[in-house]
Amino acid sequence: MRVLGIETSCDETACAVVTDAADPARRIVSHSLFSQLREHAPYGGVVPEIASRAHIEHLDGLVAESLRAAGMKLSDLDAIAATAGPGLIGGVMVGLTTAKTLAYATNKPLIAVNHLEGHALSVRLSDDVPFPYLLLLVSGGHCQFLVVEAVGRYRRLGTTIDDAAGEAFDKTAKLLGLGYPGGPAIERLAQQGNAARFNLPLPLKGKPGCDFSFSGLKTAVRLALESCGPTPSDQDKADLAASFQRTVMAVILDRAKNAIALFGESHSVSGKHFVVAGGVAANAALRAGLVDLSAQHGMTFTAPPMALCTDNGAMIAWAGLERFRLGMIDDLEAPARARWPLDAMATAKPFAGVKA
Ligand code: KG4
Ligand code: ZN
Repeated sequence: MRVLGIETSCDETACAVVTDAADPARRIVSHSLFSQLREHAPYGGVVPEIASRAHIEHLDGLVAESLRAAGMKLSDLDAIAATAGPGLIGGVMVGLTTAKTLAYATNKPLIAVNHLEGHALSVRLSDDVPFPYLLLLVSGGHCQFLVVEAVGRYRRLGTTIDDAAGEAFDKTAKLLGLGYPGGPAIERLAQQGNAARFNLPLPLKGKPGCDFSFSGLKTAVRLALESCGPTPSDQDKADLAASFQRTVMAVILDRAKNAIALFGESHSVSGKHFVVAGGVAANAALRAGLVDLSAQHGMTFTAPPMALCTDNGAMIAWAGLERFRLGMIDDLEAPARARWPLDAMATAKPFAGVKA
């Protein structure tokens, strides 16, 4: 089975061909990605109009490149998958319309993939993780715990009531005068800082449930920076980066503890996988904390390789493949959606678009 996947929901134009090979190492036949980082960097965040235009400019070339690298023609494919939301609507429309056109022209099935399902299932592409598992999805646009029960069956345990964790990293980085994206810059600077210097508030820590809130933290960082005087030193900034990172990690671990307890209400926790995906999963302190927490509960911590944690085409192709082999295909009327909660019962957080 060979599926082409297209991802255009934010600032990465990506495309991949995957198969259902028994060996996970051989499943990604080819993948290509154009990161729009440089296009958006001058604005300190993703600009939706620039993103849509860049997707239009690059997507056709990436599809051709993925097929060429796979040594395949369009006729060799079994299905064509694309992100149909949630995300920046202009970009989603570019990718989905391209997929629909290819599907129509070649008479192949179309799979309209929820971007979050792409993240949720990517660990099955890389590690064959069995259902059910607990997923923490932490990126610039999303911050939520999901019980992944089966393909198409997700239960959201908690989500952010304001900013996503990656968004908090990006906004803090902006306040500290670091570049975009902020996560890697903060993590680097934090290594030279004193994490105990600033006592920032721990939003929702100790409260029941596993929702997140990060917007108050951003204000606290601004006030802490102002307390350093008109020209904060490099050491002030490093200390603040380290204190901010420590705080975010403490909040995520507190919430994760509650998420494991909630997961335990419907499944035996022991032996199950605790999975993390999304760009913030690159953070070494977060990974270390989650490895410990999982072990304390008899769970196995698993994260897809970094290239599969951040937005990519292979996760969309793989989610398409998993749906396709269960007969879940879509017609050419499938809509592009700015909001699309994975859990049908959940209310979607409006996708603000500009991340920083
Ligand atoms: O999944 P992703 O590539 O894009 C989406 O948002 O969908 O995630 C990007 C986010 C950005 O907010 C970035 O600052 C954050 O992931 N990030 C990190 C790190 N690397 C990337 N946050 C904390 N620590 C990192 N090392
Ligand atoms: Zn994503």
